[in-house]
Amino acid sequence: MARKWAIQDIPSQKGKLAVVTGANRGLGLEIVKGLASAGAHIVMAVRDRAKAAAAIATVVREFPSAEVEAMTLDQADIASIRSFSEEFHKRFNHLDLLINNASAILVHQSKTQDGFEKHFGVNHLGSFALTGLLLDKLTSAKGARIVNTSSTAHRLVKSIDLDDLQFQHTAYKPMEAYGRSKLAALLFNAELDRRLRKAGFDTKAVAAHPGYSNTNPDKGGVLMRVATSIFAQPAAMGALPQLYAATAPGVSGGDYIGPGGIAEMRGYPAKVGCTLQAKDQTVAARLWAISESLTGVSFLD
Ligand SMILES: NC(=O)c1ccc[n+]([C@@H]2O[C@H](COP(=O)([O-])OP(=O)(O)OC[C@H]3O[C@@H](n4cnc5c(N)ncnc54)[C@H](OP(=O)(O)O)[C@@H]3O)[C@@H](O)[C@H]2O)c1
Repeated sequence: MARKWAIQDIPSQKGKLAVVTGANRGLGLEIVKGLASAGAHIVMAVRDRAKAAAAIATVVREFPSAEVEAMTLDQADIASIRSFSEEFHKRFNHLDLLINNASAILVHQSKTQDGFEKHFGVNHLGSFALTGLLLDKLTSAKGARIVNTSSTAHRLVKSIDLDDLQFQHTAYKPMEAYGRSKLAALLFNAELDRRLRKAGFDTKAVAAHPGYSNTNPDKGGVLMRVATSIFAQPAAMGALPQLYAATAPGVSGGDYIGPGGIAEMRGYPAKVGCTLQAKDQTVAARLWAISESLTGVSFLD
C-alpha cells in the first residue's frame, strides 16, 4: 500500500461521474474537492440547496475547472431518496462512484420521516436504499465503486441487536446508536460486495473511515473541543481514506480503509481491520433482508 498517499495521487477521474452524499460540509466537501481536482463530474447530494450554492462556490474558487452540481437528497426520508434516484435516472446513463458519506452523528433520540431511529435510518437504511436504487447505473459503468463510511465507533458496540433496531426495548444512548449504525455500514459493505461478486458484476464495495477528523470544531463542550483541537486531524486529511477507497488502484472489494497512524485516529490511508461482529455473514444477511423490508428497496437477491 502506498505510503503518504494524498490528494495529488488520485488518478485522473476525467469522464467519471460521482455522487457524494453529505457533501455540503465536513468530509463530504473535502471528498468533492479531491474528486474535482482529478477531473470528475460530481453530483453533491445534499438536503440544503442554498448551503450547496455556497459550498460549490468554495470548490470552484479552489479548483476553477471543477464540474460540480447539487441535487436534493434527504436520507431521513425514503420518498426523498426515491425522488433523487428518479431525477438521477432521467439525467444520467451511468454512475462511476457512489460515496455514502452522509450521517446523523450523536443526535438525541429521534425518528426519520418513516419512523426509524435516526442514526439507523439515515446512516444505514438511507445509504442502503440509495445504493439499491442507483445500482443499475453503477453496474452500467465499468469498474464502478461504492464507498460506505464507517467509524472506529463500530468497535464500541457489542452487537447491532437486530431484534431492537429502533431502540424500543433498550435505553437510548447516542454513542450506542451511532456505533450500531457504523457497524451496520461494515456489515452492509461486506454483504454488498459478496452479492456483487456472486452476480458477476465488476462493481466494488469498499468501506472507509476517517479516524478522528476536525469537521465540527465548535461542537461539544469545552473538553471535547480541547481534545479535538489536540488529537483530531484536519478534515482534508480525514477525507483521504474515503478518496483512496474510491479511486486508488489496488483496492479490492470488501477492503476497509482508514488512517494508518496510532489507533487509526490520524494518518495516511491504509488497509485496516474491523471487529468480529462486523464480519458476521449470518448477521449481515439478516440485516440485508430487514433493510429490504423496511425500505421497500430490494436488490441483488
Ligand atoms: N469527523 C470524524 O471524526 C468522523 C469519525 C468517524 C466517522 N466519521 C464519518 O464520516 C462521515 C462524515 O463525517 P463529518 O465529520 O464530515 O460529518 P458532519 O460534518 O457532521 O457532516 C455530516 C453530513 O451529513 C449530512 N446529513 C446529515 N443528515 C442527513 C440527512 N438526513 N440526509 C442527507 N444528508 C444528511 C449533513 O448535511 P447538512 O450539511 O445538511 O447538515 C452533512 O453534510 C460520516 O459518515 C461520519 O459518521 C466522521
